[in-house]
Amino acid sequence: MSLPEKIVLVGPMGAGKSTIGRHLARQLGYDFHDSDRELEYRTGANIPWIFDMEGESGFRDRESRVISELLQKDHIVLATGGGAVLRPENRKTLAQAFVIYLKVPPDLQYERTRRDRNRPLLQNDDPRGILERLFRERDPLYTEVADLVIEGGHRGPRSLVRSLAGRL
Ligand code: S3P
Repeated sequence: MSLPEKIVLVGPMGAGKSTIGRHLARQLGYDFHDSDRELEYRTGANIPWIFDMEGESGFRDRESRVISELLQKDHIVLATGGGAVLRPENRKTLAQAFVIYLKVPPDLQYERTRRDRNRPLLQNDDPRGILERLFRERDPLYTEVADLVIEGGHRGPRSLVRSLAGRL
């Protein structure tokens, strides 16, 4: 069986999409892209600044454009932001790729993100509660778009990528 030409990682903040995506791309000889970094590169602004200036919906508009443009390329691994599955148009765009849902529990997401200031949705009094709520709301959407669900919490990137690559 041949490898999928477009591979997308979805999942919540702190799931490890970028780390795993970079390793997987290297292993397959594919290009790696990250929709948040691409957006920052294109606008010259960081994510919190875009949220401040344009609101979440302005950010989502830009995110949708970046994802659909990047998915025109082949031989890519694309790590998406945690909210990329929210818009139906994005879920449709993702259907042309092989989508991996990197699933980790909210406690671990919290441990991995709690010192990070680059995630505007978590800059409030109860980031753990937010992560739990987002997980409840979004888990069905990640599952809906996924061709493969991988439990990402208990293994290091190398072992995860090895088992992932074997299942493509
Ligand atoms: C978001 C996740 C972030 C980033 C933005 C919004 C979300 O990406 O796109 O802060 O809605 O979950 P990561 O999942 O890479 O942290």
